[in-house]
Amino acid sequence: MTYFILVPDNLEASGLAQLRSIPEFTVHAPGKLTREQTLELIPQAHAMIVRSDTKADADLLAKADNLKVIVRAGVGVDNIDLDECTRRGIVVMNAPDGNTISTAEHTFALLLALARHIPQADASMRAGRWERKKFVGTQLHGKTLGIVGFGRVGRALADRAKAFGMKEVAYDPFVPERIARHLGLACPTLDALLEQADVISLHAVITNDTRGLINRDTIAKMKDGVLIVNAARGSLINGADLAEALKSGKVAGAALDVYDTEPPAPDNPLLGLDNVVYTPHLGASTVEAQEAVAVQAATEIIDALLHGEYSNVRNKAVLQR
Ligand code: MLT
Repeated sequence: MTYFILVPDNLEASGLAQLRSIPEFTVHAPGKLTREQTLELIPQAHAMIVRSDTKADADLLAKADNLKVIVRAGVGVDNIDLDECTRRGIVVMNAPDGNTISTAEHTFALLLALARHIPQADASMRAGRWERKKFVGTQLHGKTLGIVGFGRVGRALADRAKAFGMKEVAYDPFVPERIARHLGLACPTLDALLEQADVISLHAVITNDTRGLINRDTIAKMKDGVLIVNAARGSLINGADLAEALKSGKVAGAALDVYDTEPPAPDNPLLGLDNVVYTPHLGASTVEAQEAVAVQAATEIIDALLHGEYSNVRNKAVLQR
C-alpha cells in the first residue's frame, strides 16, 4: 500500500528526508499551504504533520476520508479538534521532546530582558540617547520564581533559574506533588504560589480550568510589582485584566511570546505597552528544536503507518475503539 503524507506547514528538512526515504510514502510538503489548498488535498491524505498554523477543525476533518494519523510537530495540540478526531478514529500524536530546552532558554531570555529592560535600552540607544538612570533593573538572584505548570519546560526553566540563584516554587495539579516536593519546589495551591512569587512564569496547557488563569482575581493575590512571563499559550491570560494591572503598576512588567490569537489582533489590549517585552511565538524557533521535532514527528508517522505503534497519543480514547 502507498500512503499519502500531507505536510501543510513548514517542516524542517531532515524530518521530510526521513519520510521521503520510505518507499511506501508519497510526501506532499511544498511549504506552507493555504487553508483552501489543505482542504483540497486532505481527502487523499493518510497522515498529516502540522505545526501550529494549520487548524485541524471539524470542517477540515469532515473531508479527511482516509486520514489515520495527525502528528503535531511540537507540543500544543490546541489547533486540533481532539474529540472530532477520536470520533473519526484518527490518532493524534505530538512531538513533545525536541523543543523543551529551546523554549526554556527563550523563557529565560525573556525574563532577563524584562528584568533589565534590555529591549527598551536598546531602542533608546538606537535613538541616540544615553539613559542609565531610566533603565535601573531588578536582580534575579534571591528572587522567588513561581512556575505555573511543571511539565518538561517548567522543569527545564527551574534548572536554569537555580543556576541564577533564584528561589523557586512550582504549582501543577497534574504533576504528583511528591515529585515537585522531592525537587523542593512544591506549592500546594496556585494561591500560595501567587502570594510568594516575585516573578511568575506560565507553562500550563490550555484547558477549561486554565483558560484566563491570569485574571483580575488572581492578579489581586500577587505581590505588588510582580513580573509575568508567558511563553506557553496566550489564552492563559485575560488580556484586558493584565493590561489594566500593567498600566496601574500592580504588575511591573510582562514578557509575552504568545497571544490569544496569533498574530495578535490590532486591538489586543496587551499590545503597545512600555513595560511589556514582546516576541512573536519564538519559544521553539531554533534550528535545533525544529530539527528535533521534525525528526520525532516523522518517526511517529513511520511507526504508526508501517508498524502500528503509537507514542505520545493525545486522544488515547481512540485506541480503545
Ligand atoms: C509548541 O506547542 O510546540 C510550541 O508552542 C511551539 C509551536 O507552536 O510551534
